[in-house]
Amino acid sequence: MRVLYDGRVEEYRAVWMEGKKIKCIDQRVLPENFVIREIKNTDEACKAIKSMMVRGAPTIGATAAYAMAQAYLLGEDLAKTANALKKTRPTAHDLFHAIDLVLNSSDPVEEAEKYVESIVERCRLIGKHGESLLNDHAHILTHCNAGALASVDIGTALAPIRMAHYSGKSLHVYVDETRPRLQGARLTAWELKNEGIEHTIIADNAAGYYMWKGKIDIVIVGADRVACNGDVANKVGTLEKAVIAKEFGVKFYVAFPSSTVDPKAKFGAEIPIEERDEKEVLEIAGTRIAPEGSRAKNPAFDITPAKYIDGYITEYGIIDACGIKKFITHLVAKTK
Ligand code: MRU
Repeated sequence: MRVLYDGRVEEYRAVWMEGKKIKCIDQRVLPENFVIREIKNTDEACKAIKSMMVRGAPTIGATAAYAMAQAYLLGEDLAKTANALKKTRPTAHDLFHAIDLVLNSSDPVEEAEKYVESIVERCRLIGKHGESLLNDHAHILTHCNAGALASVDIGTALAPIRMAHYSGKSLHVYVDETRPRLQGARLTAWELKNEGIEHTIIADNAAGYYMWKGKIDIVIVGADRVACNGDVANKVGTLEKAVIAKEFGVKFYVAFPSSTVDPKAKFGAEIPIEERDEKEVLEIAGTRIAPEGSRAKNPAFDITPAKYIDGYITEYGIIDACGIKKFITHLVAKTK
């Protein structure tokens, strides 16, 4: 991804490996600070994923794949590393998919590199297919950060936007701030700014107003896990955007690589939803905003039923709502 840093333009990935060390952009401190961290062992890899130093389903998967490769290079017990990594965040399917791929391979280092390259290539294809949905002067709404930070490079929901921008289309992106962790305001806006793509950050609860006003042509979001019937788990708040989009006739698309499809989840209700610390809701930047004694709930994701989704942008092309079950059945059969 293009990063403007210290007056220079540089290319970075969200996570990569150098020798026995994993390196990553610390997503907790963006956009104020651009810091590269080193992950030296399984414990640090688990902490990086849990604390959201690295985040977004494909980037979590890539970090876990590298952590398995690192454990192999350090002569550690791979089954133990796999178990520890699987306990970090429960919703992103890519995490479990990536760990099992590397665990079952004869060359964990080569497998991890191959896996990460395949994620980047899938994102490129998502961008290539998804670009056709964006007309010149399109106004797009996105939720959370499904950009390069979340998927090693290029992005899932942001991939069609990047590609359309590169091919000279003029776009405007409405960026949901995405409470409580503000991935939209902090990370998506940072990526769009680095690319020079016009954007406006809106409070999460303003999205309905802009759809009602006819300001939004299309919604594109990412996914953390896709069930076999096309239901989608994504950042909490996605569900209400999808329902409102349907009400106002705004097309709603979900972009994801096939590694996000969970062949074991028949319906969205079978997807585990991460509950995070209530402090993330009760505090902003470490300062309490709620009365002492008030409690909060903090589900990190919600489920958008397939009936609210107009289409799915994958590395294989754009799948319409009617075709998604058949597509997933083929996909699952192919990977068995
Ligand atoms: O809690 P996060 O920041 O890891 O959640 C990320 C999302 O919900 C993204 O939309 C999703 O992982 C898709 S990323 C390409």
